[in-house]
Amino acid sequence: MKDNLQKLKEDILKKLSEIKDSQTLRDLEIQYLGRKGELTLVLRQLSDLSLEQKKNIGSAANDLKLELAEKFRQVADMLESEKKNDFVDLTLPGVNIKRGHLHPLTIVQNELEDIFTSMGFMILDGPELESDYFNFEALNIPKYHPARDMQDTFYVARTDADSTRTNADKSATDLVMRTHTSPVQIRAMQKYGAPLRCVVPGRCFRSEATDARHEHTFYQLEGLMIDKDISWADMKGVLEVIVQRLYGPETKLRMRPKFFPFVEPGNNGEVTCFICKGAGCRLCKHSGWLEIVGSGMVHPNVLRAGGVDSKVYRGFAFGFGLTRLAMLKYNINDIRLLNGGDLRFLEQF
Ligand code: FA5
Repeated sequence: MKDNLQKLKEDILKKLSEIKDSQTLRDLEIQYLGRKGELTLVLRQLSDLSLEQKKNIGSAANDLKLELAEKFRQVADMLESEKKNDFVDLTLPGVNIKRGHLHPLTIVQNELEDIFTSMGFMILDGPELESDYFNFEALNIPKYHPARDMQDTFYVARTDADSTRTNADKSATDLVMRTHTSPVQIRAMQKYGAPLRCVVPGRCFRSEATDARHEHTFYQLEGLMIDKDISWADMKGVLEVIVQRLYGPETKLRMRPKFFPFVEPGNNGEVTCFICKGAGCRLCKHSGWLEIVGSGMVHPNVLRAGGVDSKVYRGFAFGFGLTRLAMLKYNINDIRLLNGGDLRFLEQF
């Protein structure tokens, strides 16, 4: 009889595992556990057994009955919850999927890239983790030069077990988070030679004590044009077209001298304030002008570092503070909002 019970148990469990709907479950329950069910019939035969056998088999049979009743209940629960999950209420309103949009910096970057490509400039990229050589040395800013102090730099230390490295070795391999996009001037010249027209939008990093106008991570857009008869007037012409396309045809550009080691002469480009149209307001600190671009004629040392013959070719370079342009365009009064990731701010664009 014990073998019968075991066989019955295996049959029932196998059938339970294959059940897909509650009607079949009910039929199965009646077939085995109902009043005339197969297990019930086996249990009834217990009365024909001796007292010793009853003790032995009876409790095992009762345990089996309880165990199977529990299994039937579990399968019933499972079928019930599957039924609930299957239910789709087509009358409910749909889930509103939020659409993302471009970041204000990306909008301004795209706008500038369109203007420059229409003027025959290619768009280039460069590494954000840059060598000290490309970021400074090749741009005519040697180690001892005080111009390095103008760009508070994140130096990235190499874990170097070799303490025998000389200082000269170190300066050749030291890494910095690039402080400007200008190192791509050298990379572009080395790769494409002259003549050359390119712009380089990208992230830059400076170890700033941040405030409303200064971030440790910000965007610049570098430009470089090299050819045989390039003059300062070409530079002013190109920059004028850019600022008029950005801020309207009545915008004026004025150039004032400024020192950058990689250009000679160097300038600060300022545009008529597009809020007050030059009359003076809070944005332009009542000067009527907004400073938006550094520029100048490429220094011969820089051309040489890029492998370009400085006796044959000349060029100009400029660097827009892209973040600054976006702030001006959208009247954003704190630069830190741009990297902050606060949706209440970002959703306004
Ligand atoms: C430069 O970085 C030069 N490489 C630009 C250049 C290129 C000059 C080619 C000549 C020829 P400067 O350090 O002034 O220059 O930075 C350029 C612009 O980057 C600034 O006008 C400003 O708009 C932006 N900028 C600089 N530091 C920060 C900062 N911490 N946060 C936000 N914007 C910054």
